[in-house]
Amino acid sequence: MPVITNIDDLKRIYARRVPKMFYDYAESGSWTEQTFRENTTDFDQIRLRQRVAVDMAGRSTASHMIGQEVAMPVALAPVGLTGMQCADGEIKAARAAEAFGVPFTLSTMSINSIEDVAEATTKPFWFQLYTMKDEDYTRRLIDRAKAANCSALVITLDLQILGQRHKDLKNGLSAPPKLTPKTIANLMTKWSWGIGMLGAKRRHFGNIVGHVDGISDASSLSAWTAEQFDLTLDWDKIAKLKEIWGGKVILKGILDEEDARMAAKVGADAITVSNHGGRQLDGALSSIRMLPRIMDAVGDQVEVHLDSGIRSGQDVLKALALGATGTMIGRAFVYGLGAMGQPGVTRALEVIHKELDVSMALCGEKSVTKLGRHNLLVPEDFTGRWA
Ligand code: GLV
Repeated sequence: MPVITNIDDLKRIYARRVPKMFYDYAESGSWTEQTFRENTTDFDQIRLRQRVAVDMAGRSTASHMIGQEVAMPVALAPVGLTGMQCADGEIKAARAAEAFGVPFTLSTMSINSIEDVAEATTKPFWFQLYTMKDEDYTRRLIDRAKAANCSALVITLDLQILGQRHKDLKNGLSAPPKLTPKTIANLMTKWSWGIGMLGAKRRHFGNIVGHVDGISDASSLSAWTAEQFDLTLDWDKIAKLKEIWGGKVILKGILDEEDARMAAKVGADAITVSNHGGRQLDGALSSIRMLPRIMDAVGDQVEVHLDSGIRSGQDVLKALALGATGTMIGRAFVYGLGAMGQPGVTRALEVIHKELDVSMALCGEKSVTKLGRHNLLVPEDFTGRWA
């Protein structure tokens, strides 16, 4: 086994082991992928301020997200089809997160079901909700998350309609993969993935199949979203969902100050500044570039998390120093999962933890809760260039 020292190492192994269809699904942004690219390159524009001769003994990355203790403020983001990247992927990722002491978020569009993950873990996880035209089905999803003792409902607001990812259309993305000559040829080179899948608990969308009647195609993400997602979702409906849930609510997919103010007004416990990993509105600004503006608008009213573009502990540090209380990683843990299963997710978390801890020390800080603008060198026009 090669020595893994960073997230790119995991990504290289991931690329070899996982079928092209699922690699492409994770690695794509929408249309030209400008936003997808800038989510990571914009992090590079922010620099860390090196400090010396500061006592760095007794450091801690521990913090809180929505009042819950976390070993570091890095939650696993909801990622659709995680159980296609590796057999029982959601169960493995949830177990790794639990052992590490960070939150795991189960996507509505997961392969393992809410009940599968609840059965396989001992601590509450977060459940991510997509709202459907069929209100009874949405209600049943919420009831199932309550029954599973989920400790937060993460309502995604930026995907009522799917941004086009060219490769998914060309590959005929589906769960499980449809067996065409092209997919069979590729699957034959991914034998360890295939052997794992033969023993998987599920190979289809576990929160959907068997829970809804009369669906035409539950294997295709694009068909399901187009047919079922509620295009009329608005702030009144969000307020109602919050009431039905009755627990902690995180509103994910906020990228605009006005929307952040609305989210604070409906009483969200946290918002996630996110452009869905550059998978939705191509041409939107990166999350990290929008973060300072959103902090200025609502930072004193609601807890703010950041997702989209984080591939290292240094990225986490930058988001926290710009005011976020927590962050989410998606692709970074998926690389680990596809590369090595549960130990791969643990390795991704260890890598990010070490990068965060050591960089924090070299910035002269002992606790992630003390990070601030004073730790950064930010170009003067970083947020102001776009009016
Ligand atoms: C969400 O499910 C996505 O594919 O981005």
